[in-house]
Amino acid sequence: MLMEPMLRSYSGNCTLQESCQVIGNPILERMAALYEEGRRLDDMTIVRIAEYGCAGGENSYQPMSAIISTLRSKHPNLGVECVLEDLPSYQWYQVMQEAERLAWACGGGVHTLCAGTSFYNQICSTESVDLAYSYVAAHFLSETLPLTTHVMMHESAPAETAAWHAQAAKDWENFLLLRARELKKGGKMMISTMSRDSLGYSWQKFSHVVWSGIQRAHTKGILSRREVETLCIPACLRSEEEIMAPFATTSEVGSSLSVDLLEFSRTEIVKERGLPNSVLAPIIRRRVESVWGGMFLRQLNQLGRNEASCRDAMGELWDDFEAEILKDPSAGWVDMQSFFLQVTKN
Ligand SMILES: C[S@@+](CC[C@H](N)C(=O)[O-])C[C@H]1O[C@@H](n2cnc3c(N)ncnc32)[C@H](O)[C@@H]1O
Repeated sequence: MLMEPMLRSYSGNCTLQESCQVIGNPILERMAALYEEGRRLDDMTIVRIAEYGCAGGENSYQPMSAIISTLRSKHPNLGVECVLEDLPSYQWYQVMQEAERLAWACGGGVHTLCAGTSFYNQICSTESVDLAYSYVAAHFLSETLPLTTHVMMHESAPAETAAWHAQAAKDWENFLLLRARELKKGGKMMISTMSRDSLGYSWQKFSHVVWSGIQRAHTKGILSRREVETLCIPACLRSEEEIMAPFATTSEVGSSLSVDLLEFSRTEIVKERGLPNSVLAPIIRRRVESVWGGMFLRQLNQLGRNEASCRDAMGELWDDFEAEILKDPSAGWVDMQSFFLQVTKN
């Protein structure tokens, strides 16, 4: 089964994901300045900047603006082509509205192309991209494998997860190779998404709340055993070792891309944890539902349930989730434990 995009409600519920930009956008500015320093003047008439996994584009505006304004501080007349990429099934009309806002705010000369193609395909022509970035997207895998013992691969029975780890390693290497092909020589890219370490990862605690809710839904007769065993999130939150594995010096990734920096950080929404439980629980419910809900709906639908029945079953699951999170919002999704990787094309 293939990856599904976020629900439309993602647009109104993505401020936690945006918090990564507090760390990432200054990296993008430095990356753009470094890139500019290394180019000849006649190379700086037009640049192509690509974003992979843009969702509705609401979180694209700041990083694109940060890169463009850094480059234009030295080259005021620089032409810019922005490529915003996400899955073909995304609501692209939303992205087009953001594209207009971006061009207007950057003072013109900015043209945006939307690419509805999985980032596990080549998106841009070979050696055509100057600068690129991806926020909170590269943890999603190219396809879902069977996972019957939990919704997250990291919490599932080891017998099931070997195939997932192999898929995740293959996807990460492929993602990097495709981007290496698209970048110009000297081109730079920052990838940031959620990571894990020996202390855990941002989705760990609430994944158990969701999994317990799925079991309760089965006990109440809302979900069949087959449905319980099908629901899962096709994502791998990688460790430092897994992030770095493709960069071994003898590998194709290692010879195409140099690692400039790898940082890890936790970000969250300022003062959010101090909100009363009754306010925070529905916020966390909408946040989780807008990212995980679309995948669950699709997985149920593919087993033969009609769309209305899928929505009813999932509505009950998310009500149950919110009731559990109300008891202890700290078990919900309240921070982003992320990595920030910057690479240069050799
Ligand atoms: C959590 S959203 C992040 C969106 C945005 N970058 C942000 O920072 O808010 C993850 C995005 O990755 C996209 N995505 C997941 N797998 C993808 C794939 N194979 N190709 C392209 N986009 C993908 C999803 O559709 C979704 O829009």
